[in-house]
Amino acid sequence: RSIAMTDRPTQPNSWQPRIVAFFCNWCTYTAADLAGVSRLKYAPNVRVIRLMCSGRVDPQFVLDALARGADGVLLGGCHPGDCHYVEGNYKALRRFELLQRLLQELGIERPRVRLEWISASEGERVRTVINEMAEQLRALGPLNLPGRFADWDREMARLEQDVQRQETAVLA
Ligand code: FES
Repeated sequence: RSIAMTDRPTQPNSWQPRIVAFFCNWCTYTAADLAGVSRLKYAPNVRVIRLMCSGRVDPQFVLDALARGADGVLLGGCHPGDCHYVEGNYKALRRFELLQRLLQELGIERPRVRLEWISASEGERVRTVINEMAEQLRALGPLNLPGRFADWDREMARLEQDVQRQETAVLA
């Protein structure tokens, strides 16, 4: 289940980053829910996806979100020691650190993926973190991985044509 925390951009042409937020059911999601996420004036284009624990966030979900057009991904879990599954958030932290290294190698800037511990009573913190992240992403600009894949496809199609032209010339 996901909930959209979407407000229309105030200026129709102003670019707004798209953020996917994976929130733990027991803490960050509850915080967002209790704070009335749909009514708060959040950054536009935030989509919250609920999981039972931050330890359930497969790094592949993050990569998929970016590959499908997200400009940033926010992971939210219970504070250390408070995970309902004991160590899920430590697992999330380890995965997050590995993911950051991988993203760095791919040339994807660090602030695009963020991990925060936010308990059920910290609704205001959800808002602050999302707004901060949106500001950082606005400064970085669009990630546009789908567009980059499309460019790459076009480049490879051109390369193939060039190679084939040369092949034809050699065979002629
Ligand atoms: Fe919230 Fe594990 S239950 S991080």
